[in-house]
Amino acid sequence: MLPFAELHLHLEGTLEPDMVFDLAERNRVRLPWRDEDDLRGRLSYRCLQEFLDLYYANIAVLRTEADFAELTDAYLARAARAGVVRAEIFCDLQAHTARGVPAPVVLAGVADALARSEADHGVSSGLILSFLRHLSAEDAVAAYDSALATGVELLGVGLCSSEVGFPAAPFADLYDRARADGLHTVAHAGEEGGPEYVWEVLRELGAERVDHGINAMADPALVAHLAEHRVPLTVCPVSNVVLHAVPSLSEHPLPAMLDAGLAVCVNSDDPAYFGGYLDTVLSAVRGLGVTPEQVATLSRNSIEASFLPEAEKRRLLAVG
Ligand code: ADE
Ligand code: ZN
Repeated sequence: MLPFAELHLHLEGTLEPDMVFDLAERNRVRLPWRDEDDLRGRLSYRCLQEFLDLYYANIAVLRTEADFAELTDAYLARAARAGVVRAEIFCDLQAHTARGVPAPVVLAGVADALARSEADHGVSSGLILSFLRHLSAEDAVAAYDSALATGVELLGVGLCSSEVGFPAAPFADLYDRARADGLHTVAHAGEEGGPEYVWEVLRELGAERVDHGINAMADPALVAHLAEHRVPLTVCPVSNVVLHAVPSLSEHPLPAMLDAGLAVCVNSDDPAYFGGYLDTVLSAVRGLGVTPEQVATLSRNSIEASFLPEAEKRRLLAVG
């Protein structure tokens, strides 16, 4: 099996409907859904915001350190079966602290599962604190401070949630600070927003990787810049179809992105909400007419775009 790094994965997006109901019962949380089937029937969306509303509603069931550890461990176990050897996982800390779950509860639970991941699942891992761009930069600063205060090791910072109408520039100082603290930087852009959103996270935030970035294809100068600088784009083809960022899988720009020489890799984004983990995403990609050689390129790109030490990248590239 080809080795893949999964670089665009929201931990909260791995909360499967059965786990939603198990945790709701354990933590005595009342859900607005009748039962698991009712929830499963709601897993289709007209747009990004409709999905986000459901995603933020379901995390109400996550309350204890053990909940976060179980959620993380379940993802790592499933990802390993899909061929993932490296996972750089986003956590939406602000979505938990806003409902009264303290940062140390969230991050200690996640970190506990990540610490066991290599031994238990053969998956090395890192944690990316993902700021919510529909909230203020001040809120993000408070989240960053509270995360640092836990002492839990962070790999990087990211930016996600609603895109159009929520500029990235206000987060520039915080990104500078995270970089000065030795952290990596990534940001969502070009999922529902146009190429200008991608330019913004490159110019204002200095993001090392762009999460999604599919709408960059509308701007030839941007495509040339991304190709020349080998800026990694963590593309999520199944997510893009389910959230109508593209009209259909057959119209997905992934083949064109590969042809343009972009440093693209593929990822599952929110697998519990979009119908599958990385193996499902790879099956969809093969159905797009992507050749076996191109799938090998996607594997290599994912390892190269990861924030693993160079020696570890070389070891994994030799396997693939
Ligand atoms: N948070 C979780 N999934 C997301 C997505 N696809 N885009 C933006 N924010 C998200
Ligand atoms: Zn995402």
